[in-house]
Amino acid sequence: MPTRANGYHAAMPHYLPLSRVARLVGQPRSVIQRMIHDEELATFDGMVDMQELLRVFPDVRWEDEGDYRRVEEIKAKAFAKRIQEHVLPDKAVLAERLYEMSREFAAARSLLLHYDSIFRFLSDKLADVTDTGGEATRQAVADVKQWLQREMAASPPDADRAEALLAQESVLRIMSANVTVQPSGHEFFVDGNDTVLEAALRAGIPLEYGCSNGNCGECKVKLLSGQVKKVYPHDFRLSEAEKAEGSFLMCSYTPVTDIVIQTELTGVDDIPRQSIPSKVKAVEMLGEQVAALHLLAPRSQRLRFLAGQYVTLSTDGVEGDYYVASCPCEDRHIEIHVRRSDHPFARRVFQDLGKGDQVRIEGPHGRFVMKLDPSRNILFVAWGVAFAPIKSLIQHAMSLETAERMHLYWVDDGLGHYQDNLCRSWMDADDTFTYHPLSGLAAPEEVAEAILNLHGDLGYTDIYAAGPAALIQALHAGAQARGLPDGNWHGESVD
Ligand code: FES
Repeated sequence: MPTRANGYHAAMPHYLPLSRVARLVGQPRSVIQRMIHDEELATFDGMVDMQELLRVFPDVRWEDEGDYRRVEEIKAKAFAKRIQEHVLPDKAVLAERLYEMSREFAAARSLLLHYDSIFRFLSDKLADVTDTGGEATRQAVADVKQWLQREMAASPPDADRAEALLAQESVLRIMSANVTVQPSGHEFFVDGNDTVLEAALRAGIPLEYGCSNGNCGECKVKLLSGQVKKVYPHDFRLSEAEKAEGSFLMCSYTPVTDIVIQTELTGVDDIPRQSIPSKVKAVEMLGEQVAALHLLAPRSQRLRFLAGQYVTLSTDGVEGDYYVASCPCEDRHIEIHVRRSDHPFARRVFQDLGKGDQVRIEGPHGRFVMKLDPSRNILFVAWGVAFAPIKSLIQHAMSLETAERMHLYWVDDGLGHYQDNLCRSWMDADDTFTYHPLSGLAAPEEVAEAILNLHGDLGYTDIYAAGPAALIQALHAGAQARGLPDGNWHGESVD
């Protein structure tokens, strides 16, 4: 039967999850979601048919993936520590994924062979009619036969592009699996050798968990479809009934195929108060006035928190409250920005705190956290060292990939833009992100006015701002006057 060598056939629907569609067309997921919302791209049960993808993106050339690779490489550099060691799946997972794909390929081949036998049967029947019918019937049947043979011999429309798309999709499916969380519908990828839990945290999807090493059972979820494979042993024992209904522990398993799991997303109120003994990994000077304190939580007790929250740190009888500047996706690493001052904890950091010293972390505290479904545009405003929670929120927003435009305004209050290079690397890595360092603006009210004047209608915007109370009040009032919807304002007064 004249079909394409890889089994592609125009009549077979082939559905793709949204996250994979975004990767294939090289667009942020937010753009795909908006196209669906605006009815430019049709979906079926939340999936996109390959034919629809070819129709809506006629100009995308899948054989040329240079740009996609380049963006991924820059992103990998910008988020180096959390990505680089997670590139390739485990050998056993790779083998299972290849096995799954070969099963699909075998099913597609057997379907094509079945179509082939139907076609031959039809041909024979038409030949019988030709033998027994009158002249008019013979002519009509001959026309139908000719048409059938011509159509079967012809390449389906867009065959070359479809082949390239399928080839690239196959590579993506081998390298990473898609997870859909029901009932919320959020999606994320599991790259390389990650567990489902690690990948959810990297993607900024907050799910229930506890120990993260197979002891507590709190990360148990129900598998609704697809296959998972155990990559770490766990001591927690699932009951027979739980196993029978497909439950598994997210911290011990990785997906072999795309999977759908059933579990609720968690919020601020679901995160328990923790007390964790961490060790100083490094005290990094960020100029004269700010130090980045890098802490490492024990392997069995990573800190569970949401971007934008703060913790209480204590060491040798001195303590202080500080925002976490790192992302919850960074495993055991916690970054804190400390400003030089007479505060006893700050004095300790700048005087003699060093590698290997113990620091207890208690928390997290606060409700200055990211909405899981933010608006199209996000304005981040940070003042001085209040950049710390904003930095964590930006990394969360980038992981979610749901915003179309993100703007960071960082006001220098005399400390300098002490992680300026990092902000610029985000801008290089992510087309949706722009960075505006602001200096020389005196009063907070003036700063608020200057920022808001750069943005017209705030109808599709979320604002996250951290800084002195005067700035927060002025921004809030100004944003409301410019149409910021209720619920899209997120301000944190930081002294
Ligand atoms: S988080 Fe404790 S068992 Fe998975």
